[in-house]
Amino acid sequence: MKKIIISNFKMNTTPSEMKTYSMALATKTSESKNQIIVCPPFTHLSVAKQFLDGSKICLGAQNVSDAEKGAYTGEISASMLKDLGVEYVIVGHSERRSKFKETDRLVNRKIKTALSCGLKVILCIGEDLATRDAKQAGAFVKKQLDDALKGIYENELEGVIIAYEPIWAIGTGKTAQVKDIQKMVELIRKEIGYLYSEKSGEQINVVYGGSIDIKNYKKIISLPCLNGALIGGASLNVDNFAVIARENY
Ligand code: PGA
Repeated sequence: MKKIIISNFKMNTTPSEMKTYSMALATKTSESKNQIIVCPPFTHLSVAKQFLDGSKICLGAQNVSDAEKGAYTGEISASMLKDLGVEYVIVGHSERRSKFKETDRLVNRKIKTALSCGLKVILCIGEDLATRDAKQAGAFVKKQLDDALKGIYENELEGVIIAYEPIWAIGTGKTAQVKDIQKMVELIRKEIGYLYSEKSGEQINVVYGGSIDIKNYKKIISLPCLNGALIGGASLNVDNFAVIARENY
C-alpha cells in the first residue's frame, strides 16, 4: 500500500548539509512507490528544491504566516513558499502551539491562507499526557479538529493531511500503542465524517507522528487505518529515512 512519508527536520542541519541530504535521498528512494515529503527549515528550501529536482520527492515548509503580506517582520508568507516550489506546509505542530503560543484560531487562519494560496497543509493535532491520563484525549483531539477546520470547505480537504501526534510521544522515544493509534485515527475519521461526510472521513489522509524510528516504523506505518507517518528525529539520518521512505507497506 502506498504511504505518505513526511520528514520534519525541526531546527536542525544547515543549508549546506541539505544539499548532500537531498542528493542522497533522491538516489536512495528513486524506486519508492510512496509519496515522500521533506520539510526542512525555510533557509534550506531553495537548496532542497534544486537538488531534489527530477525526483518525485515533494517539498514542505514547517510553518507559514496567517497574513498574506505586509508589515510582519520575520514572517514567511504562503505565496513566498509557493513561488519557491514548496507544495506542503506543516501547521499547528505542538512545538509551535506550546513554545510560540499558537492558538486553534491562528492555526485555522494559517490553514485558510495556505490553502487559498494553493499550498497543501499537514495539520498536526494531538493530546498531552495529562489530557490522556484524564481520559480526555478523544474530546481534546475532536475540538482541535473542529477549530482548525472551521470554514474550510469539503472540497478543500483534498489539500489537507491530518497528522496525529500525541505530544508525549514527540521526541521522547515513546510511541503510542498500536491500539491507541487505531482508536484515535478512527475517531478522527468519524469526526471528519460528522463535520463533512462519511466519504470524506474515509478518504482524508491521516498520518501518525511521535518517535517513529528505524526499529519501530514498520509495525506503525503498516497499519491499514494510517496513510503514513510524520518523522522528526529519525528523518535527520538520510540512510534511516530512506529505508523508511522506500519500504513496501
Ligand atoms: P519525532 O518528531 O519523530 O522526533 O518524535 C515528530 C514530530 O514532531 O513531527
